[in-house]
Amino acid sequence: MNITLKINGIEHAIEAPASTTLLAALRGLGFHGVKFGDEQGLSGADTILLDGRPVNAGSLLAAQAQGHAVATIEALGEHPEQGWRKTDGLHPLQKAFIESGAIQCGYCTPAQILAAKSLLEKNPNPGEGEVREAISGVLCRCTGYLKPVQAVMRAAAVLRGEDPSSVSAEQLPVEPLAPEDKLIADDGSPVATKVTPKIVLTPQTETYQTVGKPEKKVDAIKLAQGKPAFTADVDMRGMLYAKVLRSPHAHAKIKRIDATKALALQGVVSVLTWRDIPRVVYSTAGQSDPIPGPLDSFSLDHKVRFVGDRVAFVAAETPEIAEKALSLIEVEYEILPAILDSREAMKPDAIKIHDEPEYVNFADSNPEKNLAAHIRIDIGDVNKGFAEADEIFEAEYEVPKVQQAHIEPHVCVTYWDEDDRLVIRTSTQVPFHARRMLAPVLGLPVKRIRVVKPRIGGGFGGKQEVLMEDVAAHLTIATKRPVIYEYSREEEFIAARSRHPMRVKMKTGVKKDGTITANAMYALSDTGAYGCHALTVTGNTGHKSMALYVGDGEYRKSPNIQFYADVVYT
Ligand code: FES
Repeated sequence: MNITLKINGIEHAIEAPASTTLLAALRGLGFHGVKFGDEQGLSGADTILLDGRPVNAGSLLAAQAQGHAVATIEALGEHPEQGWRKTDGLHPLQKAFIESGAIQCGYCTPAQILAAKSLLEKNPNPGEGEVREAISGVLCRCTGYLKPVQAVMRAAAVLRGEDPSSVSAEQLPVEPLAPEDKLIADDGSPVATKVTPKIVLTPQTETYQTVGKPEKKVDAIKLAQGKPAFTADVDMRGMLYAKVLRSPHAHAKIKRIDATKALALQGVVSVLTWRDIPRVVYSTAGQSDPIPGPLDSFSLDHKVRFVGDRVAFVAAETPEIAEKALSLIEVEYEILPAILDSREAMKPDAIKIHDEPEYVNFADSNPEKNLAAHIRIDIGDVNKGFAEADEIFEAEYEVPKVQQAHIEPHVCVTYWDEDDRLVIRTSTQVPFHARRMLAPVLGLPVKRIRVVKPRIGGGFGGKQEVLMEDVAAHLTIATKRPVIYEYSREEEFIAARSRHPMRVKMKTGVKKDGTITANAMYALSDTGAYGCHALTVTGNTGHKSMALYVGDGEYRKSPNIQFYADVVYT
């Protein structure tokens, strides 16, 4: 259908399916300041202003915005230096976000600024509670909210023509953010954050040029403007959209897979199953060579090992066609017993999660026992330490799986460049590992792969996995065309590598005066279907914490520590 959108005061006519969201339409027109965070508008990264009110562009059809005024971050200020052309520069909100250190990854920043702009247009003198409420629909995973709240209060002061230093983070002593009567939330409860964070500078830094002084983030100006700084912020001619068919079963063999109907769908350019690509075993853990973990993954396999495991890749002209194609792939599974509890994994009669002959052990991994990694560390003599203790405390703890929940999902774009290098533009924490690890998987020498890591919208360890770059890369190799693959929020939860759930037993011996005489930890860690960071994450559980809890005196000189761990496949 034909849709006319008035964006930042200028009319844009587009032709798009009726189902096109306003988010897709805006990004398609090059307004990359509006971001994808999830499909339900929960993250708020897709916030724009519709007739001055903040709304989620991903939850609105483009057609619904017809006849309304759409404002994006691109409507606000610009870089203060524009050559001979005079400019007002950045908007006070953009300046305040930069000056207050309110931008970390910057993925949420355009949305927060727009939400704040809407507030200040209605209420030029808001209290902290009102500011918090106004930006509460835009989640920030990196900066938190203190600095953005400060930034909005500071911008409000500037817009009122007042001195903004009363909300400066640099001011000492600690000052209230706002008058006491403003520190009440709308529901009448007191607002928790009453003061700017206390900053204590060591005296010697007074003479330093940089140390101890606030520094503006080098790329803050572009982030405050919502410039195309992130992986998905590119438009390429002929770009295809990738989707992945995922397993509905926890453990199964693929007996038959037929992509004929999917390939026949108009707009589908490629469907890849395990039969179509080389079978190369590797690890997805972005770590130095040799990778401290087993090689137990394939880009595609004839066996699936968790609900959400990969079954087939599709590349199509639009995301909607790619999604439709997934439903046309016929798969017949032979369902196998599953291990859903880490305590079951090492039982002698447990089914083997990894029975493939290509499996490569690392150190003590043992697929026969569903063991991805195994740690046995003894320092001193814990039995002697426990014998010398006046009290012994023992307890068992469970820590759950934790999703990193970066607001920018995993996303990558792949294409061949003019030097016939495969370019992998990806939101990763491990660009060099990605290049080295993917070379054999893709059948290319390392020098024919170029990894570009633009600004990353949060990673928190979740993007230390080389998790999905191979999907787009295989499809670019198959089609010769640029391919973008972006995880949905659901995929982040079912098909990313979250922090391992663990069952941890602790035994600590202490003297009556509190001196620790011995400390023992056993961790049973659940790595799920693949080893990836099995050894290193579980290792850190003990290595980093056990070293902190040693006794004093002789026990500090010769501590008694035991750290054992088994990391199992489930
Ligand atoms: S700075 Fe807010 S999500 Fe990263």
